Amino acid sequence: MLVEAGSQGVVTGVRELARGARLRRYETVRGFFPAAEPVRARLAVRAALSRMRDPRLRRTRVNWRELDARLWEMDWREHFQPVLAGRSLAVVPPWTRARFGARRRVVIHPGMAFGTGQHATTRACLEMLERCAVPPPARALDVGTGTGVLAIALAKLGVRHVLALDTDPQALAAARGNVRRNRLGRRVRLSSLALDTVRPHATRATRYPLVVANLYLDVLVALAPALSVAVAPGGTLVTSGVLRSQQGRLRAAFTRPHWRLRGTRRSGSWVTTAFIREVD
Ligand SMILES: C[S@@+](CC[C@H](N)C(=O)[O-])C[C@H]1O[C@@H](n2cnc3c(N)ncnc32)[C@H](O)[C@@H]1O
Repeated sequence: MLVEAGSQGVVTGVRELARGARLRRYETVRGFFPAAEPVRARLAVRAALSRMRDPRLRRTRVNWRELDARLWEMDWREHFQPVLAGRSLAVVPPWTRARFGARRRVVIHPGMAFGTGQHATTRACLEMLERCAVPPPARALDVGTGTGVLAIALAKLGVRHVLALDTDPQALAAARGNVRRNRLGRRVRLSSLALDTVRPHATRATRYPLVVANLYLDVLVALAPALSVAVAPGGTLVTSGVLRSQQGRLRAAFTRPHWRLRGTRRSGSWVTTAFIREVD
């Protein structure tokens, strides 16, 4: 819900507060919103909470705090723990030297962008990509790269060339740093081009056998025509950022004759769906 309202990162936790002799446990959810539009963020969160059917959620207490870049960094250091995804990947912050057996380390500094591996949608994409990249295709596309986590994971899974797109300059700055940290500058290319502006240049030769798009329902629906050009016939598109309640609308936008369902993965209230691009 916070992500839908524009949050660029979400951390969940539990807080215990003493109330007299009793200890009360509170579930906490922290969302990180860009400081540029504080009023819009507050209105979006208020509207989203009022739409919630669960009365307990409507009683949620919301507190706002402005973080400067340094505080944001400290906050993440406290909360960003390594995430093991699938059988072969570990997403780790740069200040962790820990190794996790033969798992490939995807080193991510979140900066002011989404994508630490902690969110259910990122983890589900990592797990699906791990399966879809056997054997690894020569090229892959990541639409909405955030910190670059999925693009970097694709390269670590063996994809030779990855193109990663994002429309947010702060996300691209974070992704650039992470590509460098993982020494993948020659294999992961970052671009601010919107997918539909890349579209007229797409030809059969430049289409991608594997595309991942962890966005939001409305963006995925709007990009459906461009995605059907970007994905090579017989190739796979992994979509995420869609709530269970929105699954029908996603499926309606990715139907025959262009698309066939390959598989879905549910984690909490989120659904990650893979489609196969049918041959024209
Ligand atoms: C939910 S985050 C996903 C980040 C990362 N890929 C992950 O899986 O954790 C979505 C990202 O998509 C970007 N975005 C939103 N609309 C976009 C569009 N039309 N084209 C490219 N990127 C977009 C946002 O700026 C944001 O960084």
